Amino acid sequence: MQRLSDRTNGFTDSVIRRMTRVSLECDAINLSQGFPDFDPPREILSRLAEVAASGPHQYAITWGARNFREALAEKQSKLMGRDIDPDEDITVTCGSTEAMMTAMMSVVNPGDEVIVFSPFYENYGADAILSGAEPIYVPLRPPLFGFDTDELESAFKRRPKALILCNPSNPTGKVFTYEELSVISELAKKYDSYIITDEVYEHIVYEPRRHIYIASLPGMFERTLSCGSLSKTYSITGWRLGYIIAPARISETLRKVHDFLTVGAPSPLQEAAVAGLKMGEEYYRDLLRTYTEKRELFLSGLDHIGIGYTKPDGAYYVMLDVSPLGYESDMELCVDLAEKVGVGAVPGSSFFRENVNHLIRLHFAKKDETLYEALNRLEGIWKLKR
Ligand SMILES: Cc1ncc(COP(=O)(O)O)c(C=O)c1O
Repeated sequence: MQRLSDRTNGFTDSVIRRMTRVSLECDAINLSQGFPDFDPPREILSRLAEVAASGPHQYAITWGARNFREALAEKQSKLMGRDIDPDEDITVTCGSTEAMMTAMMSVVNPGDEVIVFSPFYENYGADAILSGAEPIYVPLRPPLFGFDTDELESAFKRRPKALILCNPSNPTGKVFTYEELSVISELAKKYDSYIITDEVYEHIVYEPRRHIYIASLPGMFERTLSCGSLSKTYSITGWRLGYIIAPARISETLRKVHDFLTVGAPSPLQEAAVAGLKMGEEYYRDLLRTYTEKRELFLSGLDHIGIGYTKPDGAYYVMLDVSPLGYESDMELCVDLAEKVGVGAVPGSSFFRENVNHLIRLHFAKKDETLYEALNRLEGIWKLKR
């Protein structure tokens, strides 16, 4: 038989999602794929029940139901400090996953280069291959995961079409400062590149840090495709609701790509999620308080176990330094961790361009009792020592 497409040879299935399957097989507590085991807000669930009876159940407008775009525009205009036009600037997608892919397909021609910071969220590797982009990797160096400005400018000198910015970052928990975003913005303007952001953790940024939208910096809205999602903010990762905010000139193209990829995000879920988009500021304060407490709980548990980690400023991931365990393969360690300790984690190597083998990623978006049980089990991590 003929070979399947060459473009799919360049990447494997997602290691994150694979580790969820391994966790299920081993009956391990799944701290690999980042999703909560607690319920979405009541307001959204009651609205979902009403929508089940009253609809809509048919396609929405391809770039998103009007009331969803209006509610989103109102919320994001306040956050981004400028008027977002619900008719022109928003494309509703099936999660930020589709948003990022649609953005890449809309901006990149095969062979164009895009800057990707390493470590990076693993989807970007596949996004680049599927859209034909050639990544230029620029390292973010621990402990603060900052970049070297000269190194970044050298990458920009190659005239990349775009830079991909995950802020707050998965897997490092890095939150980019105003100064860092200014450097990136000035370089993007100087070398005429687009910025494609992934800001799914915009509401999970710990004190005293603040989330800054790069699109809100001077002259940046025009060249930024801001991808976001309701998945993490409202604990509805299964609903597959995301969006891209970009000026009309770019949104026109995004909408064409999105239409032929998916036709649209689920209309009943858009309708129900409006209840979330309309919630007041106290909802986001409570969400942050919840995650701040979970971060404290989880990190103090890790301190007790005596294993090194990077403290996240945003999102809900922790990178553990597992070098004392003496494994050569972080994948092998993660499989042993699931099988013998009963906790699912993601091998750090799946996020790095560089040859990194001593980190694994865990997340703490779980009920407190789940986290306590996971920490109890993690006490057993030392028995894996070689
Ligand atoms: C940085 C980042 N982007 C996107 C996603 C997926 O978002 P969505 O559910 O909106 O597709 C995740 C999920 O873990 C993520 O961590």
